[in-house]
Amino acid sequence: YPPERVRNFSIIAHVDHGKSTLADRLLEITGTISSRQKNEQVLDRLQVERERGITVKAQTASLFYTYKGENYLLNLVDTPGHVDFNYEVARSLAACQGVILLVDANQGVQAQTVANMFLAWESDLEIIPVLNKIDLPYADPEAVAKQIGNLLPVEESDILKISAKTGLGVEEVLKTVIEKIPPPVSDWEKPAKALLFDSYFENYKGVICNLAIIDGAIHKGDKIIAHSTQREYVVQNIGILYPKETPTDVLYGGQVGYITAGIKTSSEAVVGDTFYLKDSPVEPLPGFKPAKPMVFAGIFPPDQSQLSFLRDAINKLVLNDSSVSVDLDSSASLGQGWRLGFLGLLHMDVFQQRLEQEFNASVIVTAPNIPYKVKIQGAKYIKQYGSDEITVLNPCRMPDSSVITEYQEPLVLATIIFPVEYIGAIINLVLERRGEQIEQTQLDNTRVLMKVKFPLNEILVDFFDILKSITSGYASFDYEDFGYQVSEMSKVSFFLNDVEVEDMTMICHISKARNMAKKICAKLKEKIPRQLFKVSVKGKVGSQIIAREDINALRKDVTAKCYGGDITRKNKLLAKQAEGKKKMRQIGSITVPKNVFIDIVRKD
Ligand code: GTP
Repeated sequence: YPPERVRNFSIIAHVDHGKSTLADRLLEITGTISSRQKNEQVLDRLQVERERGITVKAQTASLFYTYKGENYLLNLVDTPGHVDFNYEVARSLAACQGVILLVDANQGVQAQTVANMFLAWESDLEIIPVLNKIDLPYADPEAVAKQIGNLLPVEESDILKISAKTGLGVEEVLKTVIEKIPPPVSDWEKPAKALLFDSYFENYKGVICNLAIIDGAIHKGDKIIAHSTQREYVVQNIGILYPKETPTDVLYGGQVGYITAGIKTSSEAVVGDTFYLKDSPVEPLPGFKPAKPMVFAGIFPPDQSQLSFLRDAINKLVLNDSSVSVDLDSSASLGQGWRLGFLGLLHMDVFQQRLEQEFNASVIVTAPNIPYKVKIQGAKYIKQYGSDEITVLNPCRMPDSSVITEYQEPLVLATIIFPVEYIGAIINLVLERRGEQIEQTQLDNTRVLMKVKFPLNEILVDFFDILKSITSGYASFDYEDFGYQVSEMSKVSFFLNDVEVEDMTMICHISKARNMAKKICAKLKEKIPRQLFKVSVKGKVGSQIIAREDINALRKDVTAKCYGGDITRKNKLLAKQAEGKKKMRQIGSITVPKNVFIDIVRKD
């Protein structure tokens, strides 16, 4: 397949607008999968993805299609559909010349549609707008076509209208892809040059790299160099994704496929890297911005005997997801563990769920937090921390406030789209969350697009849920990094009988710190089971105690009523207690349910 017979494209859409369904339908029409397989979404492979109905990991597949008597090779790059995974969308696009912009004709243009569309726009890709779900009774393709017409220079009549579910109009999508999306530009005479745009780990196979071949060709057995590491590998397998790895022994310029080359860890397979043949070095492609973790949490085994088991599980999972950052961590109450960095909260949940499901690893996750930058003074401290400006990933490690001269907190630029009648409620929410409106546009006469600068801290945990609930589910939301701003922050920490609960320590804006300390103390009192002794709960802002609650002692020992009675009954009771203990952990001498702290932070 010479370049003019190849099309590389991606489908971009808001969550649930039907991307995976359309991808499956395309595979089916082109005979890549049999209709026997069609009920399971083929490109969504992970168990978490099936359960949550979201795509986490982008998957690529090749299709063959005959159009006007010519055979075409179409490479479809499926992209994940959640704000947390936006960077995956960006890197998938680097392997494409065009995108299908899929919009639910029922729900209309949403925040992610706009965000992803601009990503494609900025990369100069051909955009093919397609309306999906026109089989639904409330679909309003004309109105949604107008919204798209307001955003993109397209004729409303040119917008395709399909049902990915029933297959209506899907064939037309393939034809339009061939007609409108330009073929890749490639020179087969030049030395080989390939872009690594994704990598994942599979047992027995090692790291599998997805490549877009820019120029030349790569053959099985070729010696290749990874530009960023300058390491040399021998290509062991090379081929296309049809939709599983299918060897072809060679990939030519313009094509997209996979290689295995004895690469052991995903840290060697740097996404965005350039591969070239040994002895014919080339100018590397511009790399991608590496994924930047913004949400950090401690992950600990429930007891230290499981430390090495958990280490293995985390290492294996990280092989598959190089956007997770891993640092060692230790805590007085939880022992040895790790501080992992994620792209967002959903990403963190998915990672935890995969640890549990795929590795059967039980874990304690601390409250999520974000990186702060602080400037510090005093020669002694500057020496201790190695610099006068440091980034703090773990709130427990925040230097004492007397040493800090300036706090900086991370910001995001959010896009919110909502029906116009909710504007009052949205403005209140924005103010309450220290947001600053940057822009407001009317998408059409019913819907508003608002750009807002928020401190990341304010939208981290529950913002999306609250936004959904105040707009009866009609608002959509997306965000991107927006640097740091100087701010007034304070450490808020909690103590049970004067032992610090390290995994609850947080950094708050000073306007909210006192309230937070009080609210969480009250929650702790409610959620921590009574012990055999009295427990005091204290909340501090900086070094000042702001809130205090007492949890009264339990009066009776569980076995007290069995004294002098039947010993087997007593043993049974103790056994039952021991069973319960596995779900518990210790803070000093106090026993609490394993995930009580993260639950409190989450639900607040
Ligand atoms: P992410 O992977 O999370 O980005 O979602 P997605 O965009 O891939 O959506 P998906 O394909 O999983 O579809 C979401 C839901 O919409 C599923 O329940 C589909 O069955 C349904 N759906 C998709 N296309 C159509 C359609 O044309 N008509 C109708 N009625 N339902 C559809």
